[in-house]
Amino acid sequence: MKEQLEQIRAQALQELSNGASEEQIEAVRVRVLGRSGELTEIMRRMPEVPRDQRPAVGRMVNEIKQELEERIARLGEQQKRAAMERSLAEARIDVTLPGLSVPRGWLHPVTQSRERMLDILESMGFEVVETPEVEDDFHNFGALNFPPDHPAREMQDTFFLAGGLLLRTHTSNGQIRVMERRKPPLAIVCPGNCYRPDELSVRASPMFSQIEGFMVDRAGIITMAHLKGVLTEFLRAFYGADSGVRFRASFFPFTEPSTEVDISCLLCHGAGCRVCKHSGWTEILGAGMIHPNVLRAVGYDPAEFQGFAFGMGVERTSLLKLGVDDMRLFFENDLRFLRQFRSGEAAI
Ligand code: PHE
Repeated sequence: MKEQLEQIRAQALQELSNGASEEQIEAVRVRVLGRSGELTEIMRRMPEVPRDQRPAVGRMVNEIKQELEERIARLGEQQKRAAMERSLAEARIDVTLPGLSVPRGWLHPVTQSRERMLDILESMGFEVVETPEVEDDFHNFGALNFPPDHPAREMQDTFFLAGGLLLRTHTSNGQIRVMERRKPPLAIVCPGNCYRPDELSVRASPMFSQIEGFMVDRAGIITMAHLKGVLTEFLRAFYGADSGVRFRASFFPFTEPSTEVDISCLLCHGAGCRVCKHSGWTEILGAGMIHPNVLRAVGYDPAEFQGFAFGMGVERTSLLKLGVDDMRLFFENDLRFLRQFRSGEAAI
């Protein structure tokens, strides 16, 4: 019996060598330690063993059982470790490889210009108010002192919509919308899109954006001198302290007196180019003292209140600032063009 046990032990240990596979180990476990395995079989045959030898055989069986269980456990550990090392080696990460870069967008150059303009105006005390793009005749024309069928309306070709509505031709509707519901003192700027049936060209587009600004207070407080001061200050902040600014007499139905403001052409520095129509100057905004009829239309008494207004095209203003000589580039959205004006890198 003892020799048989020795043999079972030696055989099992040989099979449980270091390189044993999982299946081999399991096979040994079942054959030797299993419920109907070799050791169980020996225990069952214990009655055949002479009584005085039974304790020794029993002890031997237990020792072999323990030894083999330990051996199997150790092999299991080894295998687990090896599997872990294999998977670590496979999943190795090279932290020095370049990462995946996620492409980030940026604001359109015209949007960047508009935000810069609004920043300057806000820093001067103006409040930004959004007003509607779809308007009625009263807010776009009537209240702004364009009499019905008056030729002045032809200054601004118009997209008409059903139901007496239209697409606003300028942001001057903002003056009416705000003054209707608020009382002076007011210092407001209204940015937004405007529409006129013009061909897209070097200098014009059927859709463009403007910023309207106006300042109203009791009569005698806000004068033409303030208008000139505010606009000169604004233009120098936007275009640079050495830019030339020129005021010319002009006409708008909603201002009296009216002026157009030119800036020395930043593209050709006065030499003449297609953007400044070879004059060295570019007109960038219209302005004036708000006409008494406009004040009356919003329920203000012109004897009591007075103020100025101005309006400028954002694309026109950006052309010069960014050194772009064709308005169409802003609307074509060719990425090769837009990439030159990534946020923070533009010349703004
Ligand atoms: N609304 C005018 C335009 O679109 C600009 C303007 C605004 C002129 C305010 C005077 C005062 O041309």
